[in-house]
Amino acid sequence: MSTQVLLDLKNVNKVFGENHVLKHIDLQIERGKFITFLGPSGCGKTTLLRSIAGFYTIDEGEIWIDGKLVNDLPPYKRGTPMVFQEYALFPHMTVFDNVAYGLDIQKRPEAEVQERVKAALAQVKLTGLEERYPNQMSGGQQQRVAMARALVMNSPIILLDEPLSNLDAKLREEVRVELRSIQLELGLTVIYVTHDQLEALSMSDYIVVFNKGAIDQHGTPHEIYYKPRTRYVADFIGTTNFIDAVVRQTSGQTATVQYGSDGRMITLHTSEQVAVGENVLLCIRPESLRMNQPNAGDFIIEGTVSSSMFLGEKERYFLTGNHGAEWIVDAYDIGQQTFQGTVELRAAADKIHLIRITE
Ligand SMILES: Nc1ncnc2c1ncn2[C@@H]1O[C@H](COP(=O)(O)OP(=O)(O)O)[C@@H](O)[C@H]1O
Ligand SMILES: [Mg+2]
Repeated sequence: MSTQVLLDLKNVNKVFGENHVLKHIDLQIERGKFITFLGPSGCGKTTLLRSIAGFYTIDEGEIWIDGKLVNDLPPYKRGTPMVFQEYALFPHMTVFDNVAYGLDIQKRPEAEVQERVKAALAQVKLTGLEERYPNQMSGGQQQRVAMARALVMNSPIILLDEPLSNLDAKLREEVRVELRSIQLELGLTVIYVTHDQLEALSMSDYIVVFNKGAIDQHGTPHEIYYKPRTRYVADFIGTTNFIDAVVRQTSGQTATVQYGSDGRMITLHTSEQVAVGENVLLCIRPESLRMNQPNAGDFIIEGTVSSSMFLGEKERYFLTGNHGAEWIVDAYDIGQQTFQGTVELRAAADKIHLIRITE
């Protein structure tokens, strides 16, 4: 095992009654990274976090933290403080007492508590605010207190379960930036749970996408966005157009596929191992399509504009293609120009991503 790996999950399974909630989770997490568990409600994110922290016993598999098998260790011996979804700071306690809480529970000597709390507050740049109460601080500062509370325990990993879900949109964005900058400054390893794809894309070094208790894909935000491996991932992250195609020829890292009702062909780069005759899906983001631009690429289909929506930086068009297929096209920086009626949609081959049909 590489020393960079801090958390190693091997075939982790968790069952609640008849409900197989975590299915064969294999995942390695490197030291000093911001990892996000992303997926819709009910897909098992909290269950996995609680299993890592030791609040749930897993039914099968192994959890290794920093080279140690922790399956049989209670939460306080795992060093993974968890910030719960519904959890805020204790409102009736000062910043100092909030941060000291975990050490007080462990009955550490007073001098040690003083020293460690001061050090943790200095790390998150809150020195001097020890006697404030949470409601006397900004949202960003409160998040720093929550981080100090985890830091004071010298935890190797900090687990955050949708910590921003109770904040309004503007504050959420502010605290997001704050959280990411603390993590980077201090080189912390953070596992962050969210169902919000924008939050995941904007904060993470790696995103792990969950689908009904299994990992569908993990990778950098760019990989997840531009190279989704399943329709589920492509659908969950951002907006995507899909069109069926059939592989007609393969050569090295390229595949020539046939698509659309008039049987057009296009050659694409792909790292997927596809076979001639295989049915695949082509995935094209709305921002990668152009309307009535003859030089905008070799992928061509026709569509009829059914409606459009002005969104400020872009105009979003809804079109109907052959066989009733719906297309979404985002037009940027086109001023007052509008498209109507039947248009030609084009995309460059390198903007088209191929997905194998696995289900
Ligand atoms: N303590 C529990 N007892 C029984 N079922 C549970 C328990 N916790 C979670 N579940 C079930 O496990 C599944 C995953 O839940 P959870 O991990 O909370 O998902 P998420 O955090 O992704 O929304 C759900 O079907 C949920 O009902
Ligand atoms: Mg949850």
